[in-house]
Amino acid sequence: MDIAIYGGSFNPPHLGHAAAVRSAWEQLRPDRFLIIPAAVPPHKRLPPGSPDGQARLELCRLAFAPFPWAEVLDLELQRDGPSYTIDTLSELHRRFPGARLTLLMGSDMLRSFEQWRGFSRILAQVRLGVFVREEKEGDAVCKFAANLRDTYGAQVVQIPHVPLPLHSTAIRDALPQRRGREALEDGVYAAIIRRRFYQAQPELSWLRERAYAWLKPSRIPHVRGCEAAAAALARRWGADADLAAEAGILHDITKKLDTPEQLELCRRYGCTLTQEDLDSPKTIHAITGALVARDQFGVGDAVYSAIRWHTTGRADMRLLEKIVYMADYMEPTRDFPGVERLRRLSGEDLDAAVELGLTMTLEEIKTRGLPPHSQSVEALSWLRSHSKG
Ligand SMILES: [Fe+2]
Ligand SMILES: [Fe+2]
Repeated sequence: MDIAIYGGSFNPPHLGHAAAVRSAWEQLRPDRFLIIPAAVPPHKRLPPGSPDGQARLELCRLAFAPFPWAEVLDLELQRDGPSYTIDTLSELHRRFPGARLTLLMGSDMLRSFEQWRGFSRILAQVRLGVFVREEKEGDAVCKFAANLRDTYGAQVVQIPHVPLPLHSTAIRDALPQRRGREALEDGVYAAIIRRRFYQAQPELSWLRERAYAWLKPSRIPHVRGCEAAAAALARRWGADADLAAEAGILHDITKKLDTPEQLELCRRYGCTLTQEDLDSPKTIHAITGALVARDQFGVGDAVYSAIRWHTTGRADMRLLEKIVYMADYMEPTRDFPGVERLRRLSGEDLDAAVELGLTMTLEEIKTRGLPPHSQSVEALSWLRSHSKG
């Protein structure tokens, strides 16, 4: 049995890894293709904020999911201490007695190979599969391989491969800047955003695409408008425009769901509703929307609470909460008597605009003969005492 082995820290696994794996598969056609993420790679320390071994294993499963022949193994995660290749190979020999193992590596790894722990024992157990840009490095690798063969009896097979210009370090640096998605398999990117590994922030175009899938098509213009209005208000009032956009994009994400579905979501997230919430089911989507935004898209506290309070407001509203409350109220597709005044006021005096918005809502609720929501009443009296103070 022929087994190819591809190891690494995969921090994160990216499309460059996938392309290398595909080249090796096409060249070698092994019976099994094993991908083995390292728990603690011995050659380098993982940068702070990196996902742990278990999480990188899950990211690898997503990254290599398009290759049904590839198996991601948790072999190195089950051992304590640094992940040495020699220990992994011993374990593989135990699991697959008599198999021919091909250990895949980049040509740079081949050059430092003599520094690996137990490298001569490794060479006695495996064939090395070295990725080579033929025209550029073929001769150099041949010479190096010949040297390893003559000195240690190594077997080396060259795998022609033009690497993609992707590097884990650059990807980790790009992710907090809302970039880097194009370097990653979709599922990997979604998982990184969901758990905000590497302090990643979502690309807004990606977030829109994902969020709109939850909406009725007829609601999309409102959500687009809310995003634009929130970002504009954030720039006007000194908040983070991208976070405001995130909140705008996600604020109505559960609006399509009916009340039983909303209640089911609350149950799933362990959220207990008050009688008042149950009596005003139209406000529940703000609660479930915030929960889904955090669970599925990893939003931080500021965006979470901006979504949570976008229908009722509350006492002690923070800046982003006021911005999203107002953006939802007066975004460009809204058309009702007084909306122009709200738009003008929100650019001049944000607190006065929220106060007016709350007053209008409470009046409307009163004319419909419904009880006011206590959070809105508290928000209004807080704002009034605030403005007097
Ligand atoms: Fe809403
Ligand atoms: Fe809305």
